[in-house]
Amino acid sequence: MPKHDGYTFWREKLNECKYILAPMVDASELPWRMLSRKYSSQLCYTPMMNAGVFVRDSTYRAENFVTCPEDRPLIAQFCSDDPELFTKAAEMIQDKCDAVDLNLGCPQNIARRGHYGAFLQEEWELIHKILSNAVQNLKIPVTAKIRVFDDIGKTVEYAKMVESTGISILTVHGRTREQKGPNTGLASWEHIKAVKNALKIPVFANGNILCFNDVIECIKHTGCNGVMVAEPNLFNPALFSGLNPCTYDIAYEYMLFVEKYPCSYACIRSHLFKIFQKVFERHKDLREKMGKLRDIEEIKSCILEIKQAILKEKESQINEQDLKLEYWLCQSYIRPIQSDESTKEREELKRLVEEKISEDASCPNALKRHIDELTLSLNENLEKEEKDSVLKFAKIIERKKRKLEKIERKNKSLEEEEARKQENKRNKYSLCGGQCKNPKGEKCEFKLCRKCCKDKVFTDKIDCKGHQIKFRQKIQNEETNLENMENNLN
Ligand SMILES: Cc1cc2nc3c(=O)[nH]c(=O)nc-3n(C[C@H](O)[C@H](O)[C@H](O)COP(=O)(O)O)c2cc1C
Ligand SMILES: [Zn+2]
Ligand SMILES: [Zn+2]
Repeated sequence: MPKHDGYTFWREKLNECKYILAPMVDASELPWRMLSRKYSSQLCYTPMMNAGVFVRDSTYRAENFVTCPEDRPLIAQFCSDDPELFTKAAEMIQDKCDAVDLNLGCPQNIARRGHYGAFLQEEWELIHKILSNAVQNLKIPVTAKIRVFDDIGKTVEYAKMVESTGISILTVHGRTREQKGPNTGLASWEHIKAVKNALKIPVFANGNILCFNDVIECIKHTGCNGVMVAEPNLFNPALFSGLNPCTYDIAYEYMLFVEKYPCSYACIRSHLFKIFQKVFERHKDLREKMGKLRDIEEIKSCILEIKQAILKEKESQINEQDLKLEYWLCQSYIRPIQSDESTKEREELKRLVEEKISEDASCPNALKRHIDELTLSLNENLEKEEKDSVLKFAKIIERKKRKLEKIERKNKSLEEEEARKQENKRNKYSLCGGQCKNPKGEKCEFKLCRKCCKDKVFTDKIDCKGHQIKFRQKIQNEETNLENMENNLN
């Protein structure tokens, strides 16, 4: 039996949890976890943390691993490509969480460059080392979160390899590494089901959940022990309760948790804009107002203002009320299908940003970070302001690029000019003036090579002193000889 039997862990420590809040960078932070727990999340994950940075940087630790005694059960997630660092990072927090999870699912370019997440999914030996080293050395259980391969058989083989390291639970996100950004598409419950059937440890399913009914369906279809939800929970943190509470009430409640458990403004902002997604589509003025606020009290009163605006509107249309989900209720957000135009636009932006990154390897760290953020946000559904800032940035890059190209063109034309001059010089001073490419004879009177000179001398019946070809002389001599012979004969 492995060190931490998966089922014992799931039953005794995790209370057979079924409803699981996913790890989410800038989104599954402490106050959000506490809100989600209140609305039926039975297990929460921290946002992904970088194990290497976590080990060496105490500020990073203090900012990124924030918890409290009520925040349990809790699994802390790290990304890493280093067995030592992953275990070391986990050792630093193993008294404050119930397990540590290895992120093998992040598909973003930042993970490609950092060599972690889904970009390790071909390196089975390395994954095996990272996980088995942690299983052997940690007091707490180890878990992992993977994506699938296109092929079901390969996915099962992969999952079995991961299981063989001795981990206690596996989460399967039913999308491939390529399914991201505009290519996200649907997750495959078939892949998840196949993995669940092949493994002996508990398996959590992830992907394609929009409402509570989907959670039930997913468990029925895949046979998984639990269902992990990420983005839909951000639009409706009460999803696991089967409720659709009012957005303004949920937002206000979240802010109360923020007061109790402070977090970064980045988290607050991203939560509020997701909760109020539909509300802000209608109330653009309130959206703009909220976007400018930083102070918690001011944000709270802005939420109350939103509530008043909606209540006023509700009163006036009370007769139209029916069973449909009104826009002010928390609900899953289904992205509008992207037109080809906007997809093209995003691809173009992405290309520009990526080109900029590869072209300017020496750019200062701040700029690099900025580019990373932009690359990330390109994969998300862009908020208008973010989009504007990306567009602005892309324009700057574009302008820089054009300037560079102009300089290059100028340099090139200078080079070409120079080359032409050289060529002329060569023609003038060193190459044969005939049809060939031989060097000219240094002293040739006709600026020709020996061969061309001979031809010229022959046709024109002349001499070249430089080449010492004496055609006229020869003819004259010959003529003289002939004359002499004739004379002699006569
Ligand atoms: C804002 C956001 C942040 C995420 N951050 C992480 C992360 O830190 N670690 C991770 O393993 N997955 C992360 N994911 C992926 C989710 O955990 C999940 O696998 C994916 O969104 C699919 O589930 P969903 O359909 O329920 O959203 C993130 C997703 C979102 C939307
Ligand atoms: Zn000559
Ligand atoms: Zn010649």
